[in-house]
Amino acid sequence: MKRAFSGVQPSGVLHLGNYLGAIRRFTDFQDEYDCYFCIVDLHAITVYQDPKELPKQIDDTALYYLASGLDPEKVTMFVQSDVPCHAELSWMLECVSTFGELSRMTQFKDKSKGKESFSSGLFTYPVLMAADILLYDADVVPVGEDQKQHVELCRNIAERFNSRYGETFKVPEAVIPEFGARLKSLQDPLKKMSKSDPNPLGYISLSDSKDEIANKVRRAVTDSGREIVYSPEDKPAIANLITIYSLCTGLGFTEIEQRFAGKGYADFKKELADVVIETITPIQEKYAEYAGSGMLSSTLKEGAERANQVSSQVLKRAKQRMGLSLLADPTERKLL
Ligand code: AMP
Ligand code: TRP
Repeated sequence: MKRAFSGVQPSGVLHLGNYLGAIRRFTDFQDEYDCYFCIVDLHAITVYQDPKELPKQIDDTALYYLASGLDPEKVTMFVQSDVPCHAELSWMLECVSTFGELSRMTQFKDKSKGKESFSSGLFTYPVLMAADILLYDADVVPVGEDQKQHVELCRNIAERFNSRYGETFKVPEAVIPEFGARLKSLQDPLKKMSKSDPNPLGYISLSDSKDEIANKVRRAVTDSGREIVYSPEDKPAIANLITIYSLCTGLGFTEIEQRFAGKGYADFKKELADVVIETITPIQEKYAEYAGSGMLSSTLKEGAERANQVSSQVLKRAKQRMGLSLLADPTERKLL
């Protein structure tokens, strides 16, 4: 079986972009791939996280994985900091990646822009992501568009390591959806929908109430004119809303255009709010069921055990290739 790996940061609310661009697609892989889906808490702490909130956010992300249909019988779900190999391999890979290539990462440039001070972890973040992926010999990495450059960097690091130290890592490929890989802010269709948006009207959170969703859709910015046509260049705001409509209903863009021919933005937004609510409500119901079931900690523990078994073999291989000490054999490590 081929392997798939992906991760989501437990850094606050999950939004519709995370769900439609990534988490929902994870379920498409679970029948045909050996899947590892990680909650990347070590990535989250590259910016300050309140230690009282972080455990809740980790559980929350895991519950949304389950509520979105990931089946722990089929996939390995785990928390990154429970598997020490990630941080260890990350350091080794930092020593084969360059300051120059990390400086070119657009996410780092965006997140550090205008800040007087930021953590060095924010800068080396993509190397940890490369370690995540390479530790599982992953073939594919389902992600949204914003992670494409990071997966490309991972490929470069893997190839460089392999040519310097001998064949060690599988070189993975990003799998990015054709549509919905970059949902835009409802308040500014030139920016991506993001949980770090200071204006909550910009994103729909998976925990928003029906009223909040309806309100956010109603207040979403639109373009000039009044026709519902998919034209990302001329009408970026409407194109974004049509994309959301399409992903929530499975209808194609032309079908949607036909459905709303002769109607205005208000009619379209009303129906859009309904289809978003229909998409999110069942996830919220399942979330509540899983939260009440008490199964989460055993799921994450079993996940960490499996992840530890696989990743420790690969870490051992990489340590051997580099000539590092193996007195403390990573494959002998025990979880609590
Ligand atoms: P993050 O919340 O940054 O950990 O992202 C988790 C996943 O959601 C990654 O695969 C991202 O590429 C994806 N993602 C984040 N924002 C968006 C967005 N606005 N549209 C589509 N996918 C997104
Ligand atoms: N950097 C990713 C994001 O912010 C999350 C992530 C961490 C990830 N490690 C990964 C995604 C490995 C895919 C594979 O969205």
